[in-house]
Amino acid sequence: MNAPAPLKDISACVFDAYGTLFDVHSAAARCRDDLGEKADALSGFWRQKQLEYTWLRSLMGAHTDFWQITGDALDYAMAATGFDDSALREKLMSLYLELDAYPEVPGVLQTLKDAGMKTAILSNGSPMMLDSAAGNADIAVQLDAVLSIEAVGIFKVSPKTYQLAVDRLGVAPEAICFMSSNAWDAAGAAYFGFQVAWVNRFGQPKERLPGEPKAEITSLEPLPGLVCG
Ligand code: LAC
Repeated sequence: MNAPAPLKDISACVFDAYGTLFDVHSAAARCRDDLGEKADALSGFWRQKQLEYTWLRSLMGAHTDFWQITGDALDYAMAATGFDDSALREKLMSLYLELDAYPEVPGVLQTLKDAGMKTAILSNGSPMMLDSAAGNADIAVQLDAVLSIEAVGIFKVSPKTYQLAVDRLGVAPEAICFMSSNAWDAAGAAYFGFQVAWVNRFGQPKERLPGEPKAEITSLEPLPGLVCG
């Protein structure tokens, strides 16, 4: 992959949370003693169902918050992998509030702040979940805003969710660089009008959807070089 060209006229960096700043598989990874060889399968089902339920509930007009959805998805994942253990369920849900941040995250946020960039999270996560994860990772002070889609009551990729960042930060869409490791979120945000850096941490193929990311990177490490020109 060639180094992406710098993005022009960016004044705010807005980050997806789960999978982008926080490692969603770190909860199950910390329960390997309980989950054994099914840890990766459970974690995969958990994440996939969690996302599907956001899309399906948005289409159904049956919104509920991401904490409820995360629990429902875990119940599905546990059933699919043959676990019936309420103590284990509680343990996994608690760990979801303390997910590991990817190692480069604090340093990158600090570099962006030092360069005068506005920074924010824009996530499906409920305010309680996002405050917990940001506090646990000690990055709350490096963020100007932690924005939950609960303010608009519908999940990504509704344009209403991306508009929230425009309204709360007071920055035009084209001056916002949005980062997501979720290719479908990167597409949705680009289609909305953000300049998007897709953080392709998992070497996935690109989505066949409208909305073209401006840059593809494999971690957040190169971000300051892309936007602080
Ligand atoms: C989020 C999900 C998409 O944080 O990862 O919004």
